[in-house]
Amino acid sequence: MSTAKGWFAERLPVTQADLRELTNEPVPNHLRRWWFCLGGTPAYLFVVQIVTGILLAFYYQPSPSTAYQSIEHITNNVAYGWYIRSVHKWAATLMIAAVILHQMRVFFTGAYRKPREINWMIGMCLLLCTLVIGFTGYSLVFEQLSFWGATVGANIADTVPYVGGIAKQLLLAGDSYNEQTLPRFFILHAAVLPATMIFLLAMHIGLIRMQGVSEMSFEDEPEDAPRTFNFFPDHLYTEVIVGLVLMILLSVLATVLPAHIGPKADPLTTPEVIKPEWFFYVTFRWLKLFSGTFAVLSSGFIVFVMFIWPFIDSWIRKKTRFQEASVWIGIVGVLLIVGLTVWEALVEH
Ligand code: HEM
Repeated sequence: MSTAKGWFAERLPVTQADLRELTNEPVPNHLRRWWFCLGGTPAYLFVVQIVTGILLAFYYQPSPSTAYQSIEHITNNVAYGWYIRSVHKWAATLMIAAVILHQMRVFFTGAYRKPREINWMIGMCLLLCTLVIGFTGYSLVFEQLSFWGATVGANIADTVPYVGGIAKQLLLAGDSYNEQTLPRFFILHAAVLPATMIFLLAMHIGLIRMQGVSEMSFEDEPEDAPRTFNFFPDHLYTEVIVGLVLMILLSVLATVLPAHIGPKADPLTTPEVIKPEWFFYVTFRWLKLFSGTFAVLSSGFIVFVMFIWPFIDSWIRKKTRFQEASVWIGIVGVLLIVGLTVWEALVEH
């Protein structure tokens, strides 16, 4: 035993004290409340997506002539294929919801302020990657809405002046949907975007580790209460419990509401109603309200403002008396997003 220990110690020169130092990061007390740990939830769901995605990729065939049949095969014939596919789909939905909730908690607690501006911008890149990975994922099934969703998405990109045409060509691998489009979506969905997200997550979590999580105090806490607790094992317990609850929730959702498969894509028949997934409802409604180039450019502008929000907020706080303007702007933003999403969900066209 001691020989084996010595063998490893020589090759992996990490002592117990090093490990303790690495894992005993003090964590601010407010992270005992689970809603402040919402960053761990998308991280956990991302791992679920990688594992279930690899299993699905063993059977999925990314070409217009085979994709739909391979999804049918996974759903109906492969052992537990329906379960893995349903967990992948539900984890995607929950991950998008968790990222949005995490961003809201960061926004409303002002955790993006100095010195965390760069991490907010990395977070924005993560949000965009999460949305695009969702979009490309739904296109892989090659059902009617996969095909028409991709076509509508590319046509929307086309309305952007100067670069729109190139963006459309890059997305579709040509002027319109063709044999090369689906393989391209698959490479984006299963390789380019996950790799980009792993890189961004390493930077996001690396920065959190260097800067520490922002501290917060609450009125109901005694003045002399300890301000931090240990990452290991205390905080890890919270994350493990959140992970277990999520796994149970995913299994229940996958069993009670398993992923369906719609009619196969037919490029000659435009469906009467084309709707994207719920997380694009807000953009879709906005595009319908202000059709054309203005709608696309204004959406881009809103995303840009969100990107540089920490600097706009700092400017407002320095130059005006409205110290908490961000809270009111945030409330209006959330009401607008919820309102447009519900509106799009309720109407047919
Ligand atoms: C895949 C998506 C994401 C993952 C896995 C993730 C993960 C995390 C984790 C684990 C934390 C530590 C504290 C906590 O749990 O709240 C955190 C903090 C933070 N995140 Fe994210 N995040 C993601 C997306 C975002 C987005 C979309 C934004 C904003 C645009 C963002 C901005 C921040 C900031 C500024 C902090 C520091 C908060 C503080 O110090 O209190 N993150 N993130």
